Amino acid sequence: MTPEEAAPDLSSLVTVDDFEAAARARLPAMAYDYFRSGADEEHTLRRNREAWSEYALWYRTLVDVAKPELGATVLGAPVSTPLLVAPTAYHRMAHPEGELASARAAAAEGSLYVASTLATTSVEELSQSAPAGHRWFQLYVHADRAFTEKLVERARKAGCTALVLTADTPVLGRRLADVRNGFALPQGLEMANLVENMDASIREGDGSLLARYVAARHDPTLTWKDLGWLAERAFPMPVVVKGIVRGDDARRALDHGAAAVWVSNHGGRQLDQAPSTAEALEEVTAAVGQRAEVYVDGGVRSGTHCLVALGLGARAVFLGRPVLWGLACGGEAGVRRVLSLLREELLRAMKLAGCANLAAAREGLVRRRGTGLTAR
Ligand code: FNR
Ligand code: LAC
Repeated sequence: MTPEEAAPDLSSLVTVDDFEAAARARLPAMAYDYFRSGADEEHTLRRNREAWSEYALWYRTLVDVAKPELGATVLGAPVSTPLLVAPTAYHRMAHPEGELASARAAAAEGSLYVASTLATTSVEELSQSAPAGHRWFQLYVHADRAFTEKLVERARKAGCTALVLTADTPVLGRRLADVRNGFALPQGLEMANLVENMDASIREGDGSLLARYVAARHDPTLTWKDLGWLAERAFPMPVVVKGIVRGDDARRALDHGAAAVWVSNHGGRQLDQAPSTAEALEEVTAAVGQRAEVYVDGGVRSGTHCLVALGLGARAVFLGRPVLWGLACGGEAGVRRVLSLLREELLRAMKLAGCANLAAAREGLVRRRGTGLTAR
């Protein structure tokens, strides 16, 4: 990818939205449209972000907040920040070093990186070229179960420490810009984990290459009973189920062997008019209680959004598009800057909220605007 504009001065970018604007100026239109888009009328894309502002932070005063503690563990993996990196496809479309740059940045910031099945860097190359650190692998189950099992084996051999099953993509959501653009990967880029699965009917055709791949290769027959099969194949990697919005589905996931639940609506890119992840998070944490860790992603663009998510019971918050904007603006340094910027914003919000550690965020800090105390 040859950037359309010179690299911006990263120190001049002071919010995630600054990074998005700078990324937009640098990226080819097709790439920016793909990264930005939500499904159909983009109601859920908008709701994801809006919903975080529908909560109030009832801050405490006169607490020693000289050094708030941000450290946590996710499935036992130590992280020095609760701001983690969600799996997103095609990083080499944002920067020539692609997933290698974003994985290095995550490790350098003490975050956790989730590699996508649809990466433009193979899971093997990632393990050879990016620092060890804790890395999870996000899996799309293919109709070809033998291929899927091979992919799980490859992730385990590459040192991934958990498997993230994405459960919200039986088909791909309709991203209108991708349809109109006839989305395809730029010359020279490929879905590096899936090369053997590509054929002419997927490479050429109307609309989005990705939509054709998902329609041809994913498994819409997948049900909860398959989670046992997957957990067995993944062992000793624990399985996290990503894409849950309902409390009953969260309980089903745990009943069928999931180690944790990831509240997500795929960044508003799948079913439009799905609930925002903030609303879904309340429902899921009430259903799961202390049974398992609950993670969330979607529309988190500030440290305050992150604090609300933690206050609603999320163990950690995953970032999708912000990482891509950082990557487009400055490769590894750009992603590091986005992660450190959000960390600084979270630290400031915690100090102002009287939170000396992440647990304090879960003690009655967050209330829906205009209502009484949430049952926290
Ligand atoms: C995604 N997401 C995603 N999820 C997944 O399980 N596998 C994937 O390959 C991808 N690819 C992908 C590409 C792009 C461009 C986006 C924007 C998103 C969804 C992602 O993991 C996450 O759920 C959302 O991105 C979170 O929302 P925000 O932070 O982007 O608002
Ligand atoms: C997307 C796929 C890659 O949202 O998950 O584009």
